[in-house]
Amino acid sequence: MIRISALLLITIMALTGHSTAIADATHDQKAVLITGASSGLGRAMAETMAANGYFVYAGARKDEDLKELNAIENIQGVRLDVNKQEQIDAAVKTITDAGRGLYGLVNNAGVVVVQPLIEIEEQDFDFQMNVNVYGPYRVTRAFAPLIIESKGRISIIGSISGTLSSATWGPYSMTKFAMEAYADALADEMKSFGVDVSLIEPGAYRSNIGKSALERMDERNQSADSSQLKTAMDESVNWLSLFENDHGDPAEVADAVMKALFDDNPKPRYLIVPTQEQAYWTINRAIERMVEQNHDQKYSFDRDALIEMLDAALAKQSGEVVQ
Ligand SMILES: NC(=O)c1ccc[n+]([C@@H]2O[C@H](COP(=O)([O-])OP(=O)(O)OC[C@H]3O[C@@H](n4cnc5c(N)ncnc54)[C@H](OP(=O)(O)O)[C@@H]3O)[C@@H](O)[C@H]2O)c1
Repeated sequence: MIRISALLLITIMALTGHSTAIADATHDQKAVLITGASSGLGRAMAETMAANGYFVYAGARKDEDLKELNAIENIQGVRLDVNKQEQIDAAVKTITDAGRGLYGLVNNAGVVVVQPLIEIEEQDFDFQMNVNVYGPYRVTRAFAPLIIESKGRISIIGSISGTLSSATWGPYSMTKFAMEAYADALADEMKSFGVDVSLIEPGAYRSNIGKSALERMDERNQSADSSQLKTAMDESVNWLSLFENDHGDPAEVADAVMKALFDDNPKPRYLIVPTQEQAYWTINRAIERMVEQNHDQKYSFDRDALIEMLDAALAKQSGEVVQ
């Protein structure tokens, strides 16, 4: 009976040219919206999810990117600049009207601005904050009703820069530290609706992020030479130049997002780094920060008490009952 209905549907769909609906009818496809899916990590996520049979609404801004994304099976390009409320509203309408609901939202779109905090102009600071902080806030608020309706999942692309912060990386790190707080609060709000929220914290992976940042510096006539922190700026510019061809394979980040969206018990945080060195930088900095906070305050904990807390946190993580 099921086979006959499916065959009938396939025939109707073939006659009317609705190929994606065939997949819908035969495979209960969960739909996911990914912002900033034109390149880098977002593109890798879109391709991985589509190849695994999920339906992807791929957010992009340029016509040629939308065309390219639309040519991939199980992907529908959606024009979405996270700074433009009218495009966000139009995307909500498009996805609502499509009728398959929305199970997953991945807040991925992001940019990097490398400038010393004592020099950065407000225009560049606004640009950084607008895309990386206001973007996820705007998009999540708009799509929350659809995600709640499906008791779905939200992934936020943070960074190891949500733990690390140093000269010239301040503006970017501020946005990724903000995502740490955003994810914790959002997870707490969403748990009463049966929606899980995860923060993905990638290390350095191949993408266009460095190239775009360097192009923008050129357009704005900015260079390391004009900075009072020239050495730090030179190092940062060099690091940005590595993103296009060096660094890790973005497919690793896509796999982490797949787990966050589709595993039975998603984790609140997925640290995903291509080298042990980057894991060390991150975990060690988190420990150092804890020691800095604890040191020489009225109620400082001694070493034994800190180890006890660490053991309790480790036990909680592995699901053991803490005495
Ligand atoms: N690559 C890494 O090593 C790394 C590490 C940690 C975290 N991340 C994070 O990963 C995310 C993706 O970055 P990526 O490295 O994959 O860089 P990418 O290749 O430059 O991709 C960034 C994406 O964001 C889009 N975007 C930029 N401004 C936008 C806006 N106003 N509205 C909508 N989309 C916008 C870009 O679209 P256009 O093509 O139209 O510009 C592009 O699709 C970012 O949040 C980034 O902070 C990356």
